[in-house]
Amino acid sequence: MKIFIDSANLDELEKAAQTGMIDGVTTNPSLVAKSGVSFEKLLMRICELVPGPISAEVTALDAPGMIEEGRKLSKLHSNIVVKVPLTDAGLKATRILSQDGIATNVTLCFSPIQAYLAAKCGATYVSPFVGRLDDIGVAGMQLIQDIRKVYQNYGFTTQILVASVRHPEHVLQSIMMGADVATIPYNVFTKLAQHPLTEKGLNQFMADWKAAGLTL
Ligand code: G3P
Repeated sequence: MKIFIDSANLDELEKAAQTGMIDGVTTNPSLVAKSGVSFEKLLMRICELVPGPISAEVTALDAPGMIEEGRKLSKLHSNIVVKVPLTDAGLKATRILSQDGIATNVTLCFSPIQAYLAAKCGATYVSPFVGRLDDIGVAGMQLIQDIRKVYQNYGFTTQILVASVRHPEHVLQSIMMGADVATIPYNVFTKLAQHPLTEKGLNQFMADWKAAGLTL
């Protein structure tokens, strides 16, 4: 499974990129607004930091507007993936942008039927928001399983990009279910390698080594 970072914070992205484990980045209008950097400048810097797919979301709400913005965004860098919302207009735009050979990420997906439509329109990625479903008492990860089944049934190649990830358990379940990508906030990414028994074991090894006065 590929790991993307869900962030528009350049400090976080730089630190994440340095681990060598990051395959791409997703942003959304809320994250970009928080970054305090102009959209184009931000995208160019992210493209320099991470040599992989970088999702940049359109803000027009009608299909012609989304197509125009999507074409403009895709010209900024060959790694830009145009993110469009899962609305009727967004699906229309996805179909046209896909026909133009532009990579797309259909976002704000909350049901298997929505995911089916995104794939039918040629989306490169679909982004089911698991955390926001959990928030309203619906099992978010079940959606991932359902989408996998739908895509397998019809041989769709649209990649399942698990979004709205809130904790390492979401990441584990994504791996177990065979999701193609999980986009992970930086604070969750930093928790993935942590285990209290690893820390405890290492402290013990170091204490024993020191007590015996050994050197390499
Ligand atoms: O980028 C889309 C998604 O990952 C947002 O997550 O935590 O705002 O629901 P969240």
